Amino acid sequence: MAESNDDPGFDKEGLKNVLMVAIGVCLVCSVIVSTAAVVLKPMRLANQELDQKQNILRAAGLLPSDALVDAQGRSVDEIFAEFEVRAVDLATGEFVDDVDTATYDPIKAAKDPAASMALTSAQDIATIKRREDVSLIYLKRTDGELDKVVIPVRGYGLWGTLLGYLAFEGDLETIAGLGFYFHKETPGLGGEVDNPNWKALWQGVSAFDEDGDPAVELVKTRSAQGSPAADHEVDALSGATLTTKGVENLVRFWTGEMGFGPVLENLKTTG
Ligand SMILES: Cc1cc2nc3c(=O)[nH]c(=O)nc-3n(C[C@H](O)[C@H](O)[C@H](O)COP(=O)(O)O)c2cc1C
Repeated sequence: MAESNDDPGFDKEGLKNVLMVAIGVCLVCSVIVSTAAVVLKPMRLANQELDQKQNILRAAGLLPSDALVDAQGRSVDEIFAEFEVRAVDLATGEFVDDVDTATYDPIKAAKDPAASMALTSAQDIATIKRREDVSLIYLKRTDGELDKVVIPVRGYGLWGTLLGYLAFEGDLETIAGLGFYFHKETPGLGGEVDNPNWKALWQGVSAFDEDGDPAVELVKTRSAQGSPAADHEVDALSGATLTTKGVENLVRFWTGEMGFGPVLENLKTTG
């Protein structure tokens, strides 16, 4: 009779053997997953870096929203190479030299009590709770003159914190663009922050009033064209009053004295 060749003493359904096989399978799988995570980490970090460069360039209007090259066919890395990345002390507005800008993460720093400050409710108009002591700024010069300046911004909308970049022209007052790379707002409502037509409305808006205070206002009805108020206005998002208010607040926060106000002031004098 052709019976199985299995050792009659080996009970493959015994608890010990079942456990050994299960543990063996788990070990092999965990080694595969860990190896993949380690091997793929450099690629993941490179992709994240490329993604942030694209977000910065798009905010500055230097890269179309639907392309990976500019009108001259230059790659993201080529265009971004024109930017100088500096760490800045947000309280003093001074550059900080002992920070590795390639690895420094301002959002992570904001979670560290030793590297950030708690905001009072009067200060915290963007609802971010803590503000990092040091942030990053992206400067592009043409013939030695500032041409574009980009700052990271964030603040609460309706469903969560929006993360993005705000770009200025070289005068450090005129907005060149605003773009968010992360948010939880509802598509079609607050999610219209991603609408290219709405984003285009930011170009040319004046960020400050005559006293140098943040003045951007998101309005349902525009002031008369040519009036001083009209220079600071952007259309509100329809059906999304809370996201709209969040965006107005975060832009005012990061252009204000608790945000990049001192840095922008310094840059105006030092260039
Ligand atoms: C499912 C759902 C999703 C919503 N998403 C948003 C949103 O992303 N942003 C926002 O400001 N309002 C959102 N709203 C609407 C708000 O609850 C609120 O009604 C609205 O902000 C009022 O805006 P309005 O005065 O322009 O109509 C949402 C409402 C619902 C029911």
